[in-house]
Amino acid sequence: MTGTAAKRRYRLQPSASVRGELRMPGDKSISHRALMLGGIAQGVTEVSGFLASEDCLATLSALRAMGVTIERPQQTQVRVHGVGRDGLSAAGAPLDLGNAGTAIRLLIGLLAGQRFDSTLIGDASLMRRPMERVAQPLRTMGARIDTTDGKPPVHIHGGASLSAIDYVMPMASAQVKSAVLLAALYASGTSSVTEPAPTRDHTERMLRDFGVELTQQQRTVRMAGGQPLRGCRVEVPGDFSSAAFFIVAGCLGARDGLTLRDVGVNPTRTGLLDMLRMMGANIEVRPRADSSAEPIADIHVRSSPLRGIRVPEALVPLAIDEFPIFFIAAAAASGETVVTGAGELRVKESDRLGAMARGLQALGVSCELLPEGIRIIGGTPLRGGHIESDGDHRIAMSFAVASLLTAGPLEIDDVANVGTSFPDFPALARAAGLKLED
Ligand code: S3P
Repeated sequence: MTGTAAKRRYRLQPSASVRGELRMPGDKSISHRALMLGGIAQGVTEVSGFLASEDCLATLSALRAMGVTIERPQQTQVRVHGVGRDGLSAAGAPLDLGNAGTAIRLLIGLLAGQRFDSTLIGDASLMRRPMERVAQPLRTMGARIDTTDGKPPVHIHGGASLSAIDYVMPMASAQVKSAVLLAALYASGTSSVTEPAPTRDHTERMLRDFGVELTQQQRTVRMAGGQPLRGCRVEVPGDFSSAAFFIVAGCLGARDGLTLRDVGVNPTRTGLLDMLRMMGANIEVRPRADSSAEPIADIHVRSSPLRGIRVPEALVPLAIDEFPIFFIAAAAASGETVVTGAGELRVKESDRLGAMARGLQALGVSCELLPEGIRIIGGTPLRGGHIESDGDHRIAMSFAVASLLTAGPLEIDDVANVGTSFPDFPALARAAGLKLED
């Protein structure tokens, strides 16, 4: 994966506008969870709207390697033949999760209570990412987990008997919350997880769809271990985090409007809308009446002048994957935008604060890195130039949208990893009006 990454490049000519109507690919977070919960459920789980991206296919391969039969009648349709809570078997080799942080962290939780050993690895980026945040609470439950200087390879010793935990998370992380909940399915007793601030709640919603009882009170989720999961239908909504690139593109250049159909608008994901509206964005969300466990809406955006803001820290976890593209909006906005309390961005697929600051500076935008955030002075003309994406899909796509602002052509290097979350991005970007060659 990393070998070809350096060879792929986007070339963009400045574009003046975007327009039209687009449908977003399926949600990555929900697609991962549908496979995992379907895998340990009794009976068949039918997933529609599945995201056929490298990250989700890594989860799919890992489950197949552990004995789950998964059919794909169509690209976006998946039928998971669940093996039941205790039906997984040892994979013959390390599970390679590629670039997928969600896959590795949730699987560590799922595998902590199995009878067999597992080893989990990934690509160069994943091998640099912190895993102790999940290993620590799971060890408290009785799991035996070795990390390598806190990172992958992660080795899980099978046969541990897990007991319930009351875990107060030191950080706002849906991946940590989900890993503990998945392990808690295998623990004796009732576990609780308390988060310092709300994070995406797809695991909680989907567990309920699979027949698991859990309660949520303020910031605490409580669930009894030992509950069986029943296969079900999962309709995966369009990925808000993919829509985010087009929402910002629309704010910058949709004079006649841009519509995004069937996008997941779970309120634990849509902090970007709040931030953009604070800047003066013109965004209309039209809920779909028949939304299921996850709310779905059409989003209509029209361009408008934006002004810089100070981002409330409470919004950070609700927009955690959208900061790269938000920084492009900040570069377009008049005045200063300040983000604080966002140190987590340094340990995503790349150091997103550093990568975005370097890219913005290369285009002539004045910005200053803060210990856990960034200050961006927006509203000045951007020049074209050369951007390094640091192999990070969201950095690459964000700078593609910046071609609505630049005076000259842009070259974005190392873009193969866009395939981890949004393989159709180049085609949809062109359909909206960006002049992108890949
Ligand atoms: C995710 C949670 C977030 C997010 C990631 C997907 C998930 O990570 O950045 O892309 O699916 O649970 P953290 O919860 O670690 O912030």
